[in-house]
Amino acid sequence: MLRPPVSFATARLAGRKPRLDDGPALFNSYASDPEVTRYLAWRAYERLEPLNAFLRECVANWEKGSGHLPWLLCLKGTDTPIGSIGVTIEGDKAVFGYALARKFWGHGFTAEALKYLVDWSLAQPSLYRAWAFCDVENPASARVMEKAGMTREGILRRWHVAPNLGSEPRDCLVYARVK
Ligand SMILES: CC(C)(COP(=O)(O)OP(=O)(O)OC[C@H]1O[C@@H](n2cnc3c(N)ncnc32)[C@H](O)[C@@H]1OP(=O)(O)O)[C@@H](O)C(=O)NCCC(=O)NCCS
Repeated sequence: MLRPPVSFATARLAGRKPRLDDGPALFNSYASDPEVTRYLAWRAYERLEPLNAFLRECVANWEKGSGHLPWLLCLKGTDTPIGSIGVTIEGDKAVFGYALARKFWGHGFTAEALKYLVDWSLAQPSLYRAWAFCDVENPASARVMEKAGMTREGILRRWHVAPNLGSEPRDCLVYARVK
């Protein structure tokens, strides 16, 4: 089974697997911000305990080496998360998702992390497709995927429920890089 690295570094960022004690830092950084979660599959956390439960799941996934594997993104030289990026590997494909604290938007951080991980994915002999999707109304995320070298493939109609926007599945843009 392919095991992604537990940590990585880019020019400005350090990515590391989450720890059980990261809850308060994540809560304060972005996980309680409804502007950040607007197009995501989850609602902003209002209490710490459910976020801690999610972290326990993440830690368990890293122990098993399967399921959704998130890295917390920290500015290099610090240990405080400013966002996260995660991968799920399904056979020969890797699918990514990401979110960043609002005050760090617009500096290219997410594209920097995604590009590193897309490069890593396609350097693995068993992976042929690195892909991600975003809501059709989330152009910042679409731009992140473009900057990471992915190509827009089309629209996945009625693909994803964003509970902050309603209960019906919404159209999404799909991007990928392949080899
Ligand atoms: C999407 C998100 C991760 C982008 O993070 P980021 O670190 O600010 O992204 P980057 O700085 O790498 O790139 C953002 C790009 O989008 C562009 N952008 C931002 N808002 C935009 C808008 N409304 N319309 C068009 N482009 C926009 C920026 O100008 C930038 O492109 P540029 O470098 O060519 O100028 C961040 O906004 C976020 O966390 N959003 C909430 C969570 C989310 O939606 N995640 C994605 C789910 S699919």
